[in-house]
Amino acid sequence: MARQPLVMGNWKLNGSKAFTAALIHDLKRELIGVSGCNVAIAPPVMYLAAAENELTGSEIALGAQNVDIHAQGAFTGDISAEMLKEFGAKYIIIGHSERRTYHHESDAFIAKKFGVLKATGMIPVLCIGETEAENEAGQTEVVVARQIDAVINTLGVDAFLGAVIAYEPIWAIGTGKSATPSQAQAIHAFIRRHIAEKSATVAEQVIIQYGGSVNDSNAAELFAQPDIDGALVGGASLKAPAFATIVKAAANAKK
Ligand code: PGA
Repeated sequence: MARQPLVMGNWKLNGSKAFTAALIHDLKRELIGVSGCNVAIAPPVMYLAAAENELTGSEIALGAQNVDIHAQGAFTGDISAEMLKEFGAKYIIIGHSERRTYHHESDAFIAKKFGVLKATGMIPVLCIGETEAENEAGQTEVVVARQIDAVINTLGVDAFLGAVIAYEPIWAIGTGKSATPSQAQAIHAFIRRHIAEKSATVAEQVIIQYGGSVNDSNAAELFAQPDIDGALVGGASLKAPAFATIVKAAANAKK
């Protein structure tokens, strides 16, 4: 069964009310008539309500960049899964390397977030990936396997049914230095094989996005790889024409 790719924009800490309205307006226009690729955007939570409103009647799904593990209570500054859901968010990024680094999020904590999202009926977009030093030390497979096993060992492999993995080598994020299509394909195939050791069915359907300096010129080549199912896009998701070109590349990728 063919997997439908997902191209998701991770706006990170960028935007304003005016920017949100303008970018969504332009994206809707750029993507008219495009099918064969799921599309989502994750603005800062401040702008979810405005984005939900702007996206009414659009095929573009809404997402968020993080979630807390608690449902409610004395957790100053945190946002629950139910709150995100109430504003129409469907795809929730967890375990982004910027959160792992700046907020010291552990594999175990991220696995809890995964479980909370599944329980709330939302789609986790689990970010995994190695540092440059780990890459150079030949540790990439060990690192991504550990990050995936944190979920499998606590929630079971079936947690990946309907879920999304974003393989983002940290050395490629925001650096302009994307992994080559064949480097990325090799790791994506490894990730799928690793999950297949527990369940071939789950491995076959799980969406594995690539992320890290994806742009309008390198997207098509990446998406031509058999195990690359779309992309998590940072910088290039802030410009409607570039993001739309990436979506169209995924929609046109014949596998
Ligand atoms: P980038 O970011 O596209 O700007 O490299 C990707 C990400 O961090 O999700």
